[in-house]
Amino acid sequence: MPKLVWLNGQVMPLETATTSVADHAHLYGDGLFEGIRIYNSLVWKLDEHLERLYHGIRLLGFHMHIECAELRKTLLDVCSQAQISDGYIRLNVTRGTGLGLDPKGIDTTPNVMIMVSTLALYPQEAYEMGLSVVTSSIRVISADALDPRLKCIGRYASNILAKAEANRAGAGEGLMLNALGQIAECTGDNIFLISKGIIRTPHASCGILKGVTRDTVIEIAKEAGYTVEETFLSTFDAFAADEAFLTGTAAEVIPMISLDTKPIGAGTPGPVTRDLMARFRAKTGVEGVPF
Ligand SMILES: Cc1ncc(COP(=O)(O)O)c(C=O)c1O
Repeated sequence: MPKLVWLNGQVMPLETATTSVADHAHLYGDGLFEGIRIYNSLVWKLDEHLERLYHGIRLLGFHMHIECAELRKTLLDVCSQAQISDGYIRLNVTRGTGLGLDPKGIDTTPNVMIMVSTLALYPQEAYEMGLSVVTSSIRVISADALDPRLKCIGRYASNILAKAEANRAGAGEGLMLNALGQIAECTGDNIFLISKGIIRTPHASCGILKGVTRDTVIEIAKEAGYTVEETFLSTFDAFAADEAFLTGTAAEVIPMISLDTKPIGAGTPGPVTRDLMARFRAKTGVEGVPF
């Protein structure tokens, strides 16, 4: 199946797609992105991702020249050309092109890219055995510097530093705290802790990206009759938890079995985690937008 890129109106193979070196995201990280999954030729949570993207565009003041409905149609069209039935879409919108920080001095026609590809974030084994996680020394960027609801390309330098730190420790993920020492999120995923059957996840004000998968899992868990709390958590709560798991578009729902080498609960994926993983999987490939 061809991995295709739609770049500013042209479709081309991934291998030959190039963009300007003066692109503002290339120069300054001044762009937004979304990662979106395709399951069974259905685009999963497409409108939720587009809504987050267009909110970011408004907040950053990009001069976006493509209406949301048109971008949606184009994305579905590129998916149908690529014919990847289970894949990963990377959607990027940058401020424009030109040297210099000042948006007044550049061509503010956004560069828009849709890449249809595949992605396996963690090995299959990690979904069965669970991930070990270490607490990162890198804190999330504070919300008064850059609102975490912006899925802004530039903010990911700190997440990459945290991921590299976790790699050096031989862990599957790095847990990032906020400036208050509260649990925020992992480098590319949101976190959930389960204690006595109650599911808890950091409140949106803790410096997290408000993940589309996080929202989906909260909804699935409530539908299944679980109590879900969006609250304030510390690493103490993680060590005291019976189970934990992480969520993300790329990660999906994955068990977390230890923090800083200390087991969480029994140190194996727990029953609530397994139940939610199964409920999540049952929806993917069945719900979604066809192309
Ligand atoms: C820092 C961070 N947190 C959480 C998530 C999960 O968000 P979503 O479920 O929307 O993919 C991501 C996904 O890329 C992320 O980068």
